[in-house]
Amino acid sequence: MKHTVLITGGAGFIGSHVVRLFVRKYPDYHIINLDNLTYAGNLANLTDIEAEPNYTFLKADITNASQMEELMLKHRPNGVIHLAAESHVDRSITNPMEFIMTNVVGTVNLLNAARKAWSGVFDQHRFYHVSTDEVYGSLHDGGFFTEETPYDPQSPYSASKASSDHFVRAYGNTYGLDYVISNCSNNYGPNQFPEKLIPLFIHNIRQNKPLPVYGKGENVRDWLYVIDHAAAIDVVYHNGKNRETYNIGGFNEWKNIDLIHLLCQVMDQKLGRSKGESAGLITYVKDRAGHDLRYAIDANKIMNELGWKPSLQFEEGIVRTVDWYLQNEVWLQQVTSGAYQQYYEEHYGNR
Ligand code: NAD
Ligand code: TYD
Repeated sequence: MKHTVLITGGAGFIGSHVVRLFVRKYPDYHIINLDNLTYAGNLANLTDIEAEPNYTFLKADITNASQMEELMLKHRPNGVIHLAAESHVDRSITNPMEFIMTNVVGTVNLLNAARKAWSGVFDQHRFYHVSTDEVYGSLHDGGFFTEETPYDPQSPYSASKASSDHFVRAYGNTYGLDYVISNCSNNYGPNQFPEKLIPLFIHNIRQNKPLPVYGKGENVRDWLYVIDHAAAIDVVYHNGKNRETYNIGGFNEWKNIDLIHLLCQVMDQKLGRSKGESAGLITYVKDRAGHDLRYAIDANKIMNELGWKPSLQFEEGIVRTVDWYLQNEVWLQQVTSGAYQQYYEEHYGNR
């Protein structure tokens, strides 16, 4: 029997890179991408692999318990890699309930469906929950998040992810589910929805629109190229130890304002603008409510125990990212105009 992996959220930013990696690297696996195609899910991210014989797309909603149970019993995957989530902090401040439904209830629905489908044979199956470093809260005075750092989520997004992490561990402890969890720092790269800092600012610079810097731009984030995160997920899925947590990060901390200046420099070069022209678009705006000051990941465990390490320096990754967005203007234009959602509405609306 083929090894089947069910990847949730595979039409999103990180999920699409994970799906592509698994479809290409494991032609003997059957890769099922389960995604509800919210505003953040885009099948255009996967056109290059959609016709592969080892790939199946399922449009389904993780908040629908009976649908999850039915699909898990029908496809009986050997493993689940769970990425589907609401993922943007600003949206969680406006609408926390959506985050509770998708991130908490959706995860518990999947866990219940896995319990049913894998009853009596948990040790031959793996539930991999993909989470964020934001569950650890905010660092104020040096130091790093390790796997032992107590949870201290500060936004509705991070609280919903922390809650889902707890449920995964509880299902391991209570029902014997084989699980792994990884908590990763901020990702950047191709296919990220232009509401997050880097793609939003590339888009705005291109359009000569203001760059809204929250507060004084002094918040610090640790940035990892999305393809390196996908490679880490591959390693953790296959070699991570049962019931272990792995922190994933690039040891690559940037103050927002420094990162924005670097991005402006790269954009000036790429667009043939004079030095400093793009930086003229920087506009300081009201700070995000409860804005976490600093995230920084200690990724030594995954590096030492599983042999993973980032492949790219940030300066190179940011140039590749800018190149991708400039070369994929149609993608950017479609996701910002909402044209692709109208398309899904027409194609999947009545299913
Ligand atoms: P994303 O918002 O780009 O994609 C989320 C995907 O989930 C979309 O394809 C969406 O359609 C799908 N989805 C949402 N609700 C769903 C539902 N009810 N049923 C089925 N599918 C649904 O997110 P991302 O940035 O790719 O993040 C993926 C995962 O990685 C998330 O769990 C996130 O918490 C985690 N993560 C993200 C980052 C980051 O920097 N982006 C860092 C660490 C961890
Ligand atoms: P974001 O990409 O939303 O990721 P996260 O909040 O999960 O870290 O934001 C990254 C940083 O950039 C964060 O400190 C908030 C800041 N930011 C801005 O200053 N302006 C913006 O328009 C956005 C979207 C983010």
